[in-house]
Amino acid sequence: MLQTVESLSRWFLKIQRNLPWRMTSDPYKIWISEVMLQQTQVTTVIPYYERFIRAFPDIKSLALAEEESVLQLWAGLGYYSRARNLHRGAQTLMKRFPFQFPQTRRELLEIPGIGPYTAGAILSIAFDLKEPLVDGNVERVLSRYFAFKHPIDSSHAKNFFWQKAQEWVLMSRSPRVFNQALMELGSLICTKSHPKCSLCPIQDSCEALKQNLTNDLPKKTKKPKPKEIHQIKFIFEKSGKFWIKKNTEGEWWSGLWDFPSIELPATTSSPQQIAKLIEQYTPTSWKELPHQKHTVTHHRLFVVPIHIKVTRAPSIEGQWTPLHQIKELPVSALVKRIINHNF
Ligand code: ADE
Repeated sequence: MLQTVESLSRWFLKIQRNLPWRMTSDPYKIWISEVMLQQTQVTTVIPYYERFIRAFPDIKSLALAEEESVLQLWAGLGYYSRARNLHRGAQTLMKRFPFQFPQTRRELLEIPGIGPYTAGAILSIAFDLKEPLVDGNVERVLSRYFAFKHPIDSSHAKNFFWQKAQEWVLMSRSPRVFNQALMELGSLICTKSHPKCSLCPIQDSCEALKQNLTNDLPKKTKKPKPKEIHQIKFIFEKSGKFWIKKNTEGEWWSGLWDFPSIELPATTSSPQQIAKLIEQYTPTSWKELPHQKHTVTHHRLFVVPIHIKVTRAPSIEGQWTPLHQIKELPVSALVKRIINHNF
């Protein structure tokens, strides 16, 4: 095992990618990068990370920011609760730990948005402490390395992975290097499909490789199919201005700006039914724009954007806003796409 830990660490020092958050051991910056990386690919994260750090270079600047400007810098990254939690987390840090970034797991877990993974990442990467971390990459690496054949979403599996991650990090010379090595292996070599085993620094002791199981592991319990939702987005326009509103709590994309939308009961809304819906706003003209598909947690969204020119405000919540102003507001990737493709 010691040899595995050392081979992995040596490999990382040789091949690691040059990423902006790897130039620092500032716990604040590590925190931001790890939250961004949780559900998002490295190449997507880089420009967001750089903009975010430029706007909010430290905890204080983030804590004092308006939520809307935090969301604005997050717009397009998805999973917006991450941004709201970072904002609240910065405020909690200022209040509870004003002088020093906490350096224990127990304290970090009190901060909104910091869970066991993020706590492990901050403690090991920023402070070089022997604290384990487990994310999707690590689960995949460990389940293959030990040929763990049970579904990985059970609590039994989680305990197994955390136990192994802890045993390994305790053996490491540098937890900062080792934990990143483990994740880097998962993202570059031990990939979901077509793992590059011949390039793997720990191939000699990998049980999945020995048993020819790399393609069958990790095992997952079957997820229910995503629920399909059909939506119309009304894009009202009057003399170059658009009718938009801020999504409220409980709605999707809460806190982000959006065109008013309605859910359709089924796939089978006829063109006549749609036309009838639109006619009630007495448009001067209207046009269906290219349909959009979008996936959000457990849902598959089918969106029909309709551009409706009107001469007076529609009788639904919203406000007239010129396009250049909308571009300054936080909007979802979906709304961004509709605007960029059509206006
Ligand atoms: N994925 C998430 N955080 C990472 C890190 N620090 N290094 C490599 N991959 C990661």
